[in-house]
Order: sequence, then C-alpha cells, then structure tokens
Amino acid sequence: MDALDKLKNRKSCRSFLEKPISDEDLDEILDIGLAAASGGNTQPITIIKVRNKETKKTLRQILGQNFIETADTILFFILDFYKQRKWCQLSKSPYGRHRSFLEFIISLEDVMCTAQSIESACTLKDIGCVYLGTPNLRYEELKEILSLPELTIPVLAMCLGYPKNSGKPNKKLNKNAVIFEEKYKILSDEEIIKYYDNEKYNNIKININDKNFNLAEKLFEISKQVESDSFANEVKNYIKEKGYINAAQKLFGLHYNPIEMIGMNEWIWNFFKSQGFDFLDNSFHINRLDVK
Ligand SMILES: Cc1cc2nc3c(=O)[nH]c(=O)nc-3n(C[C@H](O)[C@H](O)[C@H](O)COP(=O)(O)O)c2cc1C
Repeated sequence: MDALDKLKNRKSCRSFLEKPISDEDLDEILDIGLAAASGGNTQPITIIKVRNKETKKTLRQILGQNFIETADTILFFILDFYKQRKWCQLSKSPYGRHRSFLEFIISLEDVMCTAQSIESACTLKDIGCVYLGTPNLRYEELKEILSLPELTIPVLAMCLGYPKNSGKPNKKLNKNAVIFEEKYKILSDEEIIKYYDNEKYNNIKININDKNFNLAEKLFEISKQVESDSFANEVKNYIKEKGYINAAQKLFGLHYNPIEMIGMNEWIWNFFKSQGFDFLDNSFHINRLDVK
C-alpha cells in the first residue's frame, strides 16, 4: 500500500503483538511529532514516553482499558506551560498564557497537531496505535505517576505497538456530510438521518424488552435534566412507538451520558485551577494597556 492509501485506511489498534518497537523507529516517530505545527512555533508540549512494564500495569489499572498493558509504548501528550514560564522567569519576561483562555485553546490545538503527526507516522510505519481520552478522567493519579508539575495538563495518551490483526477501517461519515463548498450547508432532516442513521450507524437499534426497559427510563430521566420535561415526554413516546432505542440515543444519551459529562465540569475546572490555570478567575481584572 502506498503512503496515501495507508493514511486513507488508517484505524485505531487495540490489540498488540509482543514484538517491540525499536528505539530507532520510536525516535523517528517522535521526531515527526516534534516537527508538527504549533501556534507561533511556541510548542507548549511535553511528551512522556512510558515503556516500563510496571508503570504500564499501573496505568492499565488507573485508565481502565486492558489493552494498555500490552502496548509497547504509551505516550502522554501534556499541555505544558511550566517550561515556558520558567524560561520567561529566568529571562525576566512577563508570562500570562496560563491566564488566557485563548492561549489555552491554541495550546490544546498544538498538542493535538503533535499527537496527530505521531499517529500518522505510526500508520506509515505499520505500527498500530490508539488514542486514549481517559487521562481526562484521572488527572490526579496521572499527576502523581508522571510527576507533573504545575501549569501542565495531561491532555491525552496514545498506545503504540505492532498490530495483532489487520481488520477493516471504521465507517466514517459520508463526505457530503463533512465537506461543504465555500459556506456552511444546513443539511435537511432527511440528509441528517441518511448520513447518520442509515449510513454511518447502519440503523442500529436496541430493542426494548423487560430486561433493558430501564434504559428507556434512564433516557427519560436524562432528557428531563438536560433538556426539558416536554422533550423527555417526546423521548418516552418515541421509544414506546418504535419499540427500540436508536443510534443517537445510544451514543449521546446513554454512552456519553450528558449528566455525567456535564457533571464533570466542576471537577475538571478545579484540577485546572489547582495546576495554576486561572483564566476564569483572575484574568478579567487585567486592565488593557494604552501602550502600543
Ligand atoms: C480524543 C480521542 C480520545 C479517544 N479515546 C479513546 C479511548 O479512551 N479508548 C479507546 O479505545 N479509543 C479511544 N479513541 C479512539 C476512538 O475510539 C476511535 O478513533 C474511533 O472509534 C474511530 O475509530 P478509528 O480510529 O479506528 O477510525 C479516542 C480517539 C480520540 C481522537
């Protein structure tokens, strides 16, 4: 397969051979990450490479996905203002990136650019990999294990290893639902159902029976809290009429349960604050300068 075909057919890998990745290959992959774009070329990034067996075992226990332990390497992508601020302190330069929401967003984008370059490099070298979003649920433990200083956030991780099996790429949205010409195109209701239900999610259904009736109840309660009583009734009637839970309800109602997701806001915010990111509290008090 040529390089472009490899990229077009990329897929996440969660099952790894015991075959180690050579230091040379890993180094080359990481060099490709280092070459990634970043806003102003400021590189607010640290990558922590974990290859130690015991650490991987601990990480598996904390991050909760069994394949983690079988990966050759786990990379942690850290949004890092610590080094930059230190440099600025040493150089007697003011520094406020950790107090700016804009700088935070740009730096997250920088971290993702680096991570994705590494993902693509793995694909090109036939090394399997998968992102892990679960670091976002385990900040405190990761801070300890990875010895993270203030002004750092573990954004996400990636497991790397040689793939055990090949398998087909995952189904993606139809190009017409993702790529618009010149301006945003509002898709019709029919198009939305076609691109999501019929095409991407294959009209998957969870038929309601006595055993899983609680799922319908759960969707009703979640809808009451995050939408409204009247919407919750619509959900209830819809499920009753159809006799099943559809793909959107399964994905965004149950799997990515919005109550749990929204419920984590405060905890995430508190961790950011404890790491020294105070863009919500203090930055509003800064007076704009007249100096041009
Ligand atoms: C930000 C992000 C977080 C993810 N977190 C996880 C994870 O915690 N566990 C996992 O198995 N896959 C994770 N994935 C991989 C996705 O599940 C995967 O990309 C998606 O199902 C599409 O499959 P594909 O990558 O094979 O195309 C994550 C992907 C991204 C981009």
